[in-house]
Amino acid sequence: MSNALFRTKSVEQCIKDTERPERGLRKSLSALDLTVFGVGVIIGTGIFVLTGKVAKENAGPSTALAFVVAGLACGLAALCYAEFASTVPVAGSAYTFAYASLGEFPAWVIGWDLVLELALACAVVAVGWSGYLRSLMDSAGIPVPQQLSGSSGGRFGFDLPAAVLVLVITAVLIAGTKLSSRVTGVIVAVKVTVVLLVIGVGAFHVTGAHYHPFIPPAQDVGGGSGLNAPLIQLMSGYTPSNFGVMGVFTAAAVVFFAFIGFDVVATTAEETRVPQRDMPRGIIGSLIICTVLYVAVSLVVTGMQKYTRLSTDAPLADAFKAVHHPFWAGVISFGAAVGLTSVCLILLLGQTRVFFAMSRDGLLPPAFSRVHPRFGTPYRTTVLLGLIVAVVAGFTSIDELAELVNIGTLFAFVVVALGVLLLRRRRPDLPRAFRTPLVPLVPVLSLLASLWLMLNLSAETWLRFAVWMAAGLVVYAAYGRLHSRLRPDRHSRPSARPPGPV
Ligand code: ALA
Repeated sequence: MSNALFRTKSVEQCIKDTERPERGLRKSLSALDLTVFGVGVIIGTGIFVLTGKVAKENAGPSTALAFVVAGLACGLAALCYAEFASTVPVAGSAYTFAYASLGEFPAWVIGWDLVLELALACAVVAVGWSGYLRSLMDSAGIPVPQQLSGSSGGRFGFDLPAAVLVLVITAVLIAGTKLSSRVTGVIVAVKVTVVLLVIGVGAFHVTGAHYHPFIPPAQDVGGGSGLNAPLIQLMSGYTPSNFGVMGVFTAAAVVFFAFIGFDVVATTAEETRVPQRDMPRGIIGSLIICTVLYVAVSLVVTGMQKYTRLSTDAPLADAFKAVHHPFWAGVISFGAAVGLTSVCLILLLGQTRVFFAMSRDGLLPPAFSRVHPRFGTPYRTTVLLGLIVAVVAGFTSIDELAELVNIGTLFAFVVVALGVLLLRRRRPDLPRAFRTPLVPLVPVLSLLASLWLMLNLSAETWLRFAVWMAAGLVVYAAYGRLHSRLRPDRHSRPSARPPGPV
C-alpha cells in the first residue's frame, strides 16, 4: 500500500505521454510568450488592490520591504521551478514534478492543492476586476445595480460582471492558447504602461514626511477569536499585533498574492517550443520585472498619501485623486480593469492544464484529458472549470480567499523545493538545461522561506486549507488510487477496477 502511494512516474514516461496525438498539446509558445504570460498573470489584484490594504493595516510604508521579502521567497522558489520545468517539460507544473520525484500520493496532494490555488485566484481576480469596472461605470453615470454587484456589507448579491468575465475567458481558452497569448500581449502592454505611469507621474507627488516612521510601531490587535491572527503569533504566545517588524512579515504573506503567476508559466511547459531554454528565461525574467515594479509602486503610493489614509478598494487610483489628479486616476482605473482580465485568463489556463495532467494520469476521469480535434485544447476540462469558477466568482468576496490562495501556493513551493532535492539524488543522470544553483542550499532556503510565510498567515486560513486537503484525500481514496495509470494491474485486470465515471 505505501509503495503504491509513493510510486513515481518516470521523467521519460511523462515526456512520452505528451507524444500521444489525441492527448498532446500543441507546441507554440516562445520565451517571449512565456515572459508576457508571466507578467500578464503576475501583475494584478496584488499590486492594484492588496497594496493599499496591507499598507493601511499591516506595514505602512514598509510595504515595500514586504514586497522584497515576498519577492525573495518567490525568487528562491523560481530557481527550483525553473530546474524542474526545464527537466520535466510536461503540462501540470508542480503536480507533474512531484509525480516524477516524490510519488503518486504527494503528486495528488499537490495537484489538488493547485486546483485550489488557481481556481480561487482566478475567482478573486475576477471579483477585483469587477470592482474596477463598476467604479468606471459609476464615473460614466451607468451604475451597476446592487443585486448584480456581488455581496457586500451583509447584503447578498450576485457579481454578474465577474461571472461574465470568467465565461468569456473560458471561450477564449477553448479557441486556443496561441490566440489567448496574443490577446494577453495587448493587455499586458496596457497594464505595464499603467504601472509605469503610476511610478513616473506619482514620483512627482511624493511627500517625504509620509515615510516617517517607515516601519510604524507595533500595535496590539484587540478582540476577535484569535483565529484571524497569524499562526506564528499564536504559536509563539505573542499578543497578536499589526505593524512593527512582524507586520512586515504579515504583509509579505499577504502581498505574496501579487507574485503568484510565475509558477503558472511552468504549467505551460508542454506547449513551449524549446522548454529547456525558454522556460527558465520566462519564469525568472517575469519575476524580476515584477519585483522591481512592485517595490517602486508601493514606495510611490505610500509617499503620495499617508498610509493611514490609503483606500483599500482602488489605492493606486485614489492616491492620484488625493493629489488632485482625477484624470490620471481614471486612466489607472481603466488600465487596472483591462490588466486584470489577463490575470484571470492565465490563471484559468494553468488550472485547466493541471486538471488535464491529472486526468491523463488516471487520477481524474479520462474525459478531462481529451483535446479538441480542431483547437488542440483540453476543452471539456476548460468548460467544467470555467463554469465552476464563474459561479464562485459570482458569490465570493476577495479578502478571505486571497489568503487561502497564498497558503495553497506556498505549500506547492515547499513540495517543488523538496522535489528538486530528491530528483537530484534519484536521477542525477537527467539532462537539466537549467540547474538550480547551490543545491542543497537554495532549495532548503526556498522551503524555509515558504514555510515562514505560511506561518504568517492566519490560523483561520490554515483551518480552511486543512478542510480542502482532507476533501482531496477522500477523492483520491475513492477514485485516483483505483484508476491511476501506474497501477500494476491497470491493463491486465480491468475488471478489478470499479467502473469510473467518464
Ligand atoms: N499575482 C496575481 C495578482 O496579483 C495573481 O492578481
